[in-house]
Amino acid sequence: MSGEAVMNPNPLFHLPNSIRMGLLIAVLVGLLITALAWIQVERERRADLEEMDRRAYVIAHQMVYPVRAALQLPDKEAVVALGPALDGYRRLTGLAVYQSDGHLIAAGKNVIDFADILQKIVAQSLKTSKDIINTSRAADAHIHVLASLIRAPEGQPEGALVVVHDLVQLDERANGRLVQFGLWIGLITLSLLVLVVASTWAFYDRSLDRLAEWMRQVRTGDAAKAPPVELPIARRLANESDRLAASLRGARLAQQTQARAVMHAANTWTRDRLRAHVVDCLRGGQLLAVSNREPYMHALRDGKPRLIVPAGGLITALDPVMQACGGVWIAHGSGQADWRMVDAKGRLAVPPDDPAYTLRRVWLSREEEQGYYYGFANEGLWPLCHLAHERPLFRASDWEHYVRANRRFAEATLEEAGSGPAVVLVQDYQMALVPRFLKEARPDLAVGIFWHIPWPNPEAFRICPWGADLLRGILGADLIGFHLQQHCNNFLDTVDRMIEARLDWDHFTVELHGHASRVRPFPISVESWDERHALTGDALAQKIAEFKERYELADARIAVGVDRIDYTKGLAERFRAVARFFERYPQFREQFTLVQLGAPSRTHIPRYRNYINELEALADEINWRFQTERWKPIRFLVGHYDTATIHAFLCMAEIGIVSSLHDGMNLVAKEFVAAKTDQNGVLVLSEFAGAARELPDALIVNPYDTEQFAEAIHRALDMAPEERRERMARMRRQVEEHNVYRWAANFLAELTAVPLPSPPTQETV
Ligand code: G6P
Repeated sequence: MSGEAVMNPNPLFHLPNSIRMGLLIAVLVGLLITALAWIQVERERRADLEEMDRRAYVIAHQMVYPVRAALQLPDKEAVVALGPALDGYRRLTGLAVYQSDGHLIAAGKNVIDFADILQKIVAQSLKTSKDIINTSRAADAHIHVLASLIRAPEGQPEGALVVVHDLVQLDERANGRLVQFGLWIGLITLSLLVLVVASTWAFYDRSLDRLAEWMRQVRTGDAAKAPPVELPIARRLANESDRLAASLRGARLAQQTQARAVMHAANTWTRDRLRAHVVDCLRGGQLLAVSNREPYMHALRDGKPRLIVPAGGLITALDPVMQACGGVWIAHGSGQADWRMVDAKGRLAVPPDDPAYTLRRVWLSREEEQGYYYGFANEGLWPLCHLAHERPLFRASDWEHYVRANRRFAEATLEEAGSGPAVVLVQDYQMALVPRFLKEARPDLAVGIFWHIPWPNPEAFRICPWGADLLRGILGADLIGFHLQQHCNNFLDTVDRMIEARLDWDHFTVELHGHASRVRPFPISVESWDERHALTGDALAQKIAEFKERYELADARIAVGVDRIDYTKGLAERFRAVARFFERYPQFREQFTLVQLGAPSRTHIPRYRNYINELEALADEINWRFQTERWKPIRFLVGHYDTATIHAFLCMAEIGIVSSLHDGMNLVAKEFVAAKTDQNGVLVLSEFAGAARELPDALIVNPYDTEQFAEAIHRALDMAPEERRERMARMRRQVEEHNVYRWAANFLAELTAVPLPSPPTQETV
């Protein structure tokens, strides 16, 4: 059957219901009234004719004697005797007298015109010996004729008297009545038409149209929840249509949920899926990761080694990937007790309680660490790449340590690679020279570097005295990854300005000494809290209750911040915004608290040390201004917190605050979203964090704008539950679908997409 609509050729079919119904009723009623009017006019006409009959008889009776006398006279005398009595007046046209043989002996002058007609009527009357009344039309006249027999005393007819009346007036009266009735009928029909159309439109068409529109919206999914019950028809159908709509919604929701689940499964990367993918990518080779920071650190507490998972996005992202894929992670063994926990080659299996890959620790002397890590990497490159108005410091001795340390990391990596094929994931700004060192020794290795922090524009970068060396080091990699396209653009621009290399802007590649590096964005992410075996249910609730009691949070509504204590994180700006919030909205005192977990970081650098002190002083000052006996506006909790604690605070808070002054991505933003399983949370997020590109449903703020920031906190507290849920649901979908497994899968797929030279044979080694 064709799906095309069949057009009804009847034009009435296309009129709105109200007009069709109005026309139908008006025509029926109009016909009825017309029929009644016609009957009435006819009845009156008959009455008029009867009246006319009576008049004619009266005249005939009055004239019986003169006519009988005249009939006895010869014709001429008879005419004279009757004289003017034969002529009519007003409606009476005149009289005529006939003998018994039908011969006309006298007639009024107006009657002569109808002689033929009258002759026939009189003949008929004489023949039947009866009076005859007749109406006739002749030319443009219409007449009423009474032929009355004049009888002798014995009864036989002596002659006939004909009385003729003009019916034109009677006709005019009847026509007048018809016109009058017609007008009334027209008026009534029209009024009826208007009345029926208007009421049908108001009670029927409009209701149906609105109901139909509502049902269309239900079908397309934009309908208001309830049908438009203010309309009479809708009111009658409300229950049924409401139920119908509800079941439609339910069916659609089920379908959507099912479709989403299918899509979700297809779109979601899991640990297992990544593991299978990596096997394909590695093609028998091994996976190596190299970074400065190690994923598991052994500190010394009370003379005993204590395991710490260091804070920072790199570890958050890469550890689950390595746990999924296995391999070796080469990193600086910076914990005081690290050396105690490894084998002779500096290796140990991690995570210690459920080993999944190998950690290879690289040892650096205190001077090396000072020059390479604290000096060049964190006093030079870190502020160089973060536009947070902190002046970078470049010392030649630091640079030398940096080169030497990078070589050490490269050597350890080559050692781990052995002579077989391997894919190496070099991590971050502390390792910029490692790709080149690796490639110089082993061009067959697939080397990718991921730059976890922003890449600034060329003007900012060119102040680094060893900028060109850094670029050449990075360009040793086959694949160079940044979080954002903007960072890729800045990188290519910088290469363009600072070194002689061939740039291909179409394919985002750089060719240096015959080696091509691809430059691509890979926004990094997190794994779900489930995969991290975070607490749930009662255990989680108990932990939250415990923290609330310990930190005297009582029933206050909570915002949380989780950061390394770093000047790029905008912590001072955050505290100032909270202070401004309480100035503007004092009614929130005792109602709202910011819990700031701050992990001390790089504390051998004076700027970092001072920053902790500055923040503590600032938090104290703000608390002093606003605190009450049983409440403080800011809880600044400085320390290294484990994953379970961080998760509990993220779950406890209804607002997550990330206010970086500049940040490559910021994974705390995504961790907060991932923790909000109940969708009851609002993320306040700096526009200068890479995460803001992926999470536009956060309340985006400029952390330097204290007024706007304070207002965003208020907006977050004030946001309707429905809006919160909708925003959070969208953010959660984004984070779930673009998790860290997908990040790693994409990076590895791109890195291994291009075939590399074969590994060296035993002879060439
Ligand atoms: C940032 C850097 C990482 C670093 C982390 C922690 O996320 O991109 O490379 O590991 O901060 O800093 P830290 O100096 O303690 O390793």
